[in-house]
Parts: sequence; structure tokens; C-alpha cells
Amino acid sequence: MSCVVLGVTAGIAAYKAVEVARQLVSKGITVKVIMTEKARHLVGPSTFRAVTGNPVAVSLFDDPGSPMKHISLAREADVVVVAPATANLLAKMAHGLADDLLSTTLLATRAPVVVAPAMNAAMYRHPATQENLRKLRERGIMVVGPEEGFLACGEEGEGRMSEPSRIVDAVLAFLRGGRQLEGKRVLVTAGGTREPFDPVRYVGNRSSGKMGFALAEVASRRGAEVHLVSAPTALEPPQGVDLIKVETAEQMREEVMRLAPEMDVVVMAAAVADYTPERFSVEKIKKEGQEELVIRLRRTPDILQELLERRRGGQIIVGFAAETGDLKEKALSKIRSKKVDLLVANDVTRPGCGFGSDHNQALLVFRDGRMRETDLMPKEDLAALIWDEIARMLGSADDSSS
Ligand SMILES: Cc1cc2nc3c(=O)[nH]c(=O)nc-3n(C[C@H](O)[C@H](O)[C@H](O)COP(=O)(O)O)c2cc1C
Repeated sequence: MSCVVLGVTAGIAAYKAVEVARQLVSKGITVKVIMTEKARHLVGPSTFRAVTGNPVAVSLFDDPGSPMKHISLAREADVVVVAPATANLLAKMAHGLADDLLSTTLLATRAPVVVAPAMNAAMYRHPATQENLRKLRERGIMVVGPEEGFLACGEEGEGRMSEPSRIVDAVLAFLRGGRQLEGKRVLVTAGGTREPFDPVRYVGNRSSGKMGFALAEVASRRGAEVHLVSAPTALEPPQGVDLIKVETAEQMREEVMRLAPEMDVVVMAAAVADYTPERFSVEKIKKEGQEELVIRLRRTPDILQELLERRRGGQIIVGFAAETGDLKEKALSKIRSKKVDLLVANDVTRPGCGFGSDHNQALLVFRDGRMRETDLMPKEDLAALIWDEIARMLGSADDSSS
């Protein structure tokens, strides 16, 4: 049975942590609550005790049965979630302070950590809090929220704790995948490349980068060292990921070839242009006096093919195919010509999925011809499912090499 340690700090949203605990318990998860001394002024430990069925820990020193409570809880936890997380707790975490049971447990744990900040808008916007949150994100800590809305202090703005169900979903996402990619180095490509023909114009495609970013985020959460080579997108970079920004197919090729030899897994989710303008005009091409503009295109390098030719032993390579029309036939013919371990094919014309959408439905085709058709689901869920498959392949590769 999974164990979640729920840290509760002295924010006005502490009462909502009871609902977080209740929802986790209803999923069959063991929940152990640590409250800060000050949180006890806002909500009573007995409430958490009743909801979780477990004693609530507050002090570093008050449990004769477990003299090193911070270590035992840190080890027991599959995930530690702090909801609400006060500005004070975030500052302590960012600086590695350990002056009470919760902060000491957070320093001692190797489990993934989720924090749900909640505070007055001015406290949230303060450069100190923003700097602390940036540091925590860089360390791979997952920050959920806060949201905008009416705050308990009477102001309106950013600072409201996310809804309990959103916090619980983040915890469940960690529990589902565990740290199955710990120690693995992965490269993910994302976004649609831009092929310029003058300083202001380019030939592009409609890829939003959402699928690649979701893949990078899930892999990072599951313990992998993630390098994300991304063509331009409007997305926030995922936490704890090494983001390398590129623009053209050629730049993407260079970065992929530089990084690939060190990687255990390469997932090519980017929409790389197949064609690029033959010429680049240093000056903006004038429209005056020209009824037509003819741009000749030439083929770009086939990055996936080059990767496959240089593949190192045991490396797993995953390709993506954005198709229109008969998916099965096109995917099978592509996997016959490109010997990837897994091809993720999707029909980009299907309503509700594909480019720009938050959802996707895919046909997974494996090297041995096996196929798996997924339901229409959020891109993050599809990313989790793809990593489950890759982890299985990595497991069998490890077994055969040992
Ligand atoms: C009624 C009340 C509500 C508070 N709400 C918040 C809050 O939502 N977020 C926050 O960062 N601090 C809030 N504070 C201030 C914290 O309680 C204070 O910074 C405290 O030192 C945090 O302690 P802790 O992080 O050890 O729990 C509140 C204080 C009071 C009296």
C-alpha cells in the first residue's frame, strides 16, 4: 500500500488539507500527517487523526516510540505533499532549514515532493517567495498552483490554494509511475521547427509542443535525467528539465546528435520540418512589385534515420508519426522502414486531439508488430502510458544485459 506524508502548515487553507487527506484515504492510500506547531492554531490534529486513522505528528521530540520520527517518516513516504505550504515553509525548504519535524522530514526524504502554496497575493508576488519557488522547481519539486481568486484576507489575486482534487491528482501521478526511470538519461524533442526564408518569415507547422513537454515532465517526475530539445513553443518549461531551445530542423539535428550518444532513451516527439527553404534572404523580401513569391524547398536531414544508424547498444528509440487517414496502414509501413522500438502514431485530423489540443489518442506500434490503441486522454496521461511501455522495455533490456 502506498504511503503519503501530508505536511500541513499555518495557512488559512489548512482546513482544505482535511479534504486532501480524505481524498487520498478514499483511494486506499495510507496518509500520515505532520502539522507545524503553528498550524495547530488553525485546524485541530484530531480532525486529521479521525480522517486518516493515524496519529498526527507535530514535534521532533515528542514520540518515545519513534525517537527519530523525521527519518522514519521520510523513509516511509512514497510522496510527501505539503498543502497548504506557507511562504515561511517555502523559504525554509529553499534554504535547507530543518528546525521542526516537517522541514527536517522534507530535508531527509528521497521521495518526490509536491507543494501547494497558499498565501496573500502580496506575499506570493514578493521577490523572495518567487525566488524560493524558482529554486524549488529547479530541484524538481512539483509546485501545484496557487490559483487566482478571492483570498481569505479580503483581497483578490493569485495566492489561493489549488483545489484538493488537483493536489491529489499530482500526488497520484507520482504514485502511479513511482521512480521507475531513476538513473536513466532521456532525450525528448518537442515543438514544431521553423524554417526561415527571410529575417521575419518562416515555413512552420502547427505543433504546439504539448505532447513533448508532457513526456519530458512525466519522465522527470519518474526520476529520469531529462534533456528536452525544443523548437519554439508558448509553453512553460517543465520543472527539473534541461531545456535546449532550437529553431530549425538543422539545429535540432545538431543538438540531438550531440546528446544522443549518452542517452538510454530518445523520444522524438517534435514535428520536424521535412522541407526547408533553399535560400535565405538576409533582407526582408519586399512585396512591392511582386504578385507571386516562389520559394523552393529542399529536404531536411532525416534525424530519426541518422539516430537509428548511430544507435548505441540497448538504447531505446521512440518515433512519432502525425498522420491523416488510415493510421494502422501508415504506422505499419513507417515502422517497417524505420526500425524504432516504438512508434506513436496519431491522426491529427481527428476532432479533439492532435496539434494544439490538450488531449490525444494514439496507436502504439512496437517493433515486433504488436499494437495498442489508446483512448482519447489528456496528453499527460498518454505520456505516462508511453513511459510505462518504455520502462517495461528498459526492464527487459536490463534483464538481458545482466
Ligand atoms: C489567521 C492566519 C492565517 C494565515 N494564513 C497564511 C497563509 O495563508 N499563508 C501564509 O504563508 N501564511 C499565513 N499566515 C502566516 C503564517 O501562519 C506564519 O508565517 C507562520 O509563521 C507560518 O508557520 P509555519 O510555516 O511553521 O506553519 C497566517 C497567519 C494567521 C494568523
